[in-house]
Amino acid sequence: MGFSEQLLGKPEDWVLDLDRHSVLMVMSEAEMAAAQLDAVDAGALPILLKTLPADAEIPPSALSSASVLVLEVSPASNASLERLSAVRALYPELPVIAAVRDANLPLVRALLKQGVRDVVGLPLPHAELVEILREISTELRAKPSSEVALGQLVTIMKSIGGVGATTIATHLGSELAARNTGRGVCVFDLDLQFGDAASYLGLSSELSISDLLEAGSRIDGDLLRSVATTTEGGLHVIAAPVDMMPIEAVNADQILRIIDVARQQYDYVVLDLPTNWTNWALSLVARSTAIFLIVELSVGSLRQAKRQLQLLDSQGINGSHVHVVANRVEKRMFRAIDLDSASLALGHPVELSIHNDHPLVRAAHDQGVLIQQIRAKSKIIGDITAFLPRLGVEV
Ligand SMILES: Nc1ncnc2c1ncn2[C@@H]1O[C@H](COP(=O)(O)OP(=O)(O)O)[C@@H](O)[C@H]1O
Ligand SMILES: [Mg+2]
Repeated sequence: MGFSEQLLGKPEDWVLDLDRHSVLMVMSEAEMAAAQLDAVDAGALPILLKTLPADAEIPPSALSSASVLVLEVSPASNASLERLSAVRALYPELPVIAAVRDANLPLVRALLKQGVRDVVGLPLPHAELVEILREISTELRAKPSSEVALGQLVTIMKSIGGVGATTIATHLGSELAARNTGRGVCVFDLDLQFGDAASYLGLSSELSISDLLEAGSRIDGDLLRSVATTTEGGLHVIAAPVDMMPIEAVNADQILRIIDVARQQYDYVVLDLPTNWTNWALSLVARSTAIFLIVELSVGSLRQAKRQLQLLDSQGINGSHVHVVANRVEKRMFRAIDLDSASLALGHPVELSIHNDHPLVRAAHDQGVLIQQIRAKSKIIGDITAFLPRLGVEV
């Protein structure tokens, strides 16, 4: 399927085709007009056109649904080159075809070195583009991994340390696991320095995320499942490293590869992230299908949460995927007014809240068991269960 005359007449339009494989073409208005696109037939690949200046940011939501990206690169513009690097870092598996004016050999080599799949000259020579797209489409169709529906990627972010992210990640993971009859649920403790998810769940393992980080290209579903430990309730957990490791030492491509494999293995992959931002953490958040940002109703926590929301927004991360959760809310504070003023301060709704019950949570952590094992019915678990509809799970 190509695209219609009508679309060419209005190049600023987005045409979304939800077929699994699609080509996203991002070019400036002038190049879009200069290219004779009506002659392109990509061999049954749907093509989405996005008209954007060569240095403008591409919304991650657009990228995440693309199978191939044709991207205008303006070598004279730093912003344009950075845009390309950002795409490569965020979506290392996405084949990128750089479209460049007056490409010379050193430039082509530099682009290929960056991992660009191919380079085409501008104005777009349709015959060449068609050839490249045909080649890639054949490859994509032959790829078995693309047949597997990816599991949801659920990220738990904290406004400040100690706000309850790990407690929520482990209990949300357990609630999902209790209801999932499919491929299962895995919690990844990516708080590489202070991770305590395994200990909260009473699990001890010699194996951890380090083993997956060190596995390089040997990473696959079997290795992943062998590194995971499993709770009595059937929740899989990838523990944080036993020895502290510097979070910036993590190879971003490797961690993205690990999480991709995990999403082929499990229906839900729940991430417990470190408080400090790194490029890899941001890349994971950009790929997440749901993000829970945990706050408490204190000035400090709300201030940091606001900064994080601004960061997500600056990365084009869709605000509707971001659910703010107020944890440790005192019963008397459960009045709407407090949550409303927190929402106002954040400029984002506080959608969910969790009761404060320190003795209960502490007892569970100390014994390495779930809250449910100490008290069958608790407000906290009821509050966490209320997250599930946001993940498409009926309660
Ligand atoms: N709803 C809650 N009520 C009372 N205490 C809580 C609650 N949630 C978490 N806590 C306590 O807060 C502390 C930090 O929790 P944790 O989950 O480790 O936070 P984080 O992972 O954000 O650092 C723990 O001592 C835990 O017992
Ligand atoms: Mg934690």
